[in-house]
Amino acid sequence: MRVLLTGIGGQLGSEVQRLLETQMEVIGTGRDHLDLSQLRSIPSVVAEIQPDVIVNCAAYTAVDKAESEPELAQKVNGIAPGVLAKAAQQQGAKLLHISTDYVFDGCHSRPYTESDPTNPVGEYGKSKLAGEVEVLQTDSSHIVLRTAWVYGVGGGGNFVKTMLRLGKDRDEVRVVADQVGSPSWTGDIAHAIAQIVTNHRDIEGTYHFTNSGVASWYDFAVAIFEEAEALGFPLQLKRVVPITTAEYPTPAQRPAYSVLSGKKLEGVLGSFAPHWREGLRQMLAALKPTMD
Ligand SMILES: NC(=O)c1ccc[n+]([C@@H]2O[C@H](COP(=O)([O-])OP(=O)(O)OC[C@H]3O[C@@H](n4cnc5c(N)ncnc54)[C@H](OP(=O)(O)O)[C@@H]3O)[C@@H](O)[C@H]2O)c1
Repeated sequence: MRVLLTGIGGQLGSEVQRLLETQMEVIGTGRDHLDLSQLRSIPSVVAEIQPDVIVNCAAYTAVDKAESEPELAQKVNGIAPGVLAKAAQQQGAKLLHISTDYVFDGCHSRPYTESDPTNPVGEYGKSKLAGEVEVLQTDSSHIVLRTAWVYGVGGGGNFVKTMLRLGKDRDEVRVVADQVGSPSWTGDIAHAIAQIVTNHRDIEGTYHFTNSGVASWYDFAVAIFEEAEALGFPLQLKRVVPITTAEYPTPAQRPAYSVLSGKKLEGVLGSFAPHWREGLRQMLAALKPTMD
């Protein structure tokens, strides 16, 4: 099986590439090879590679910046996935497209299922929802996989790396305690993606995958420092202070409740998502040697 993977420089794409390459042929592409903002170039790149499956991990992910450049976010997240889906269809390939909890408004108090109504609250979420709709509206064979609160060793910055940087230099960090979700390690998401790709002929439609369990950003930060201390990361931090979203204003509004139900995918794969704290331990253990 040949997989065309996008976004190999990103958090998730880099991890998916590392894992899938041990199991199948992977043609990994970065922006230099396949730029999703260059819509007309997409079909020819897909035709050149002739994949069986396309895994789209590339996205415009700057949530706050999307508020001031919604057109680019729409192009990359909203329009390009539909172009990819049509190109996949022409090649007889399946598209596995990655989406987000930000398609929901976060007003629930129970985990969101795949069939719950969407209602994004910011430009990034709107652009990701538009991409889902574009993919679903094609006649292509496709899977939309929503995940949330992603962090990993590869790619650029993320919440874990930021906490470790702040905790190294500061006595105190203040972290939002009134937004909850399921912190999700790219290693576990990549494992689920590998299972889906292997069984792709039996899977179609929209699914959720995150690590299991629920935490606020504050809970997550406390756990990061506990686990990092146990692993010997350099820390001078003494206090994590819980604050409200109102005390940490950002250009884009975030959903207050971002928990996704993973039951539908569990039923198909027959396996359960590991708890987020286990994912965190594994990520930190993998990160430590890169910082020594
Ligand atoms: N991060 C999260 O918390 C989170 C939560 C839920 C869902 N997701 C979804 O998960 C997927 C992966 O996210 P991530 O955290 O791995 O994001 P990331 O680290 O920001 O990686 C995104 C990748 O997309 C690439 N990209 C951006 N614009 C592009 C373009 N025009 N053409 C081609 N490539 C382009 C980036 O390339 P450069 O390196 O060149 O910029 C980067 O490699 C995305 O679909 C995202 O929406 C993420």
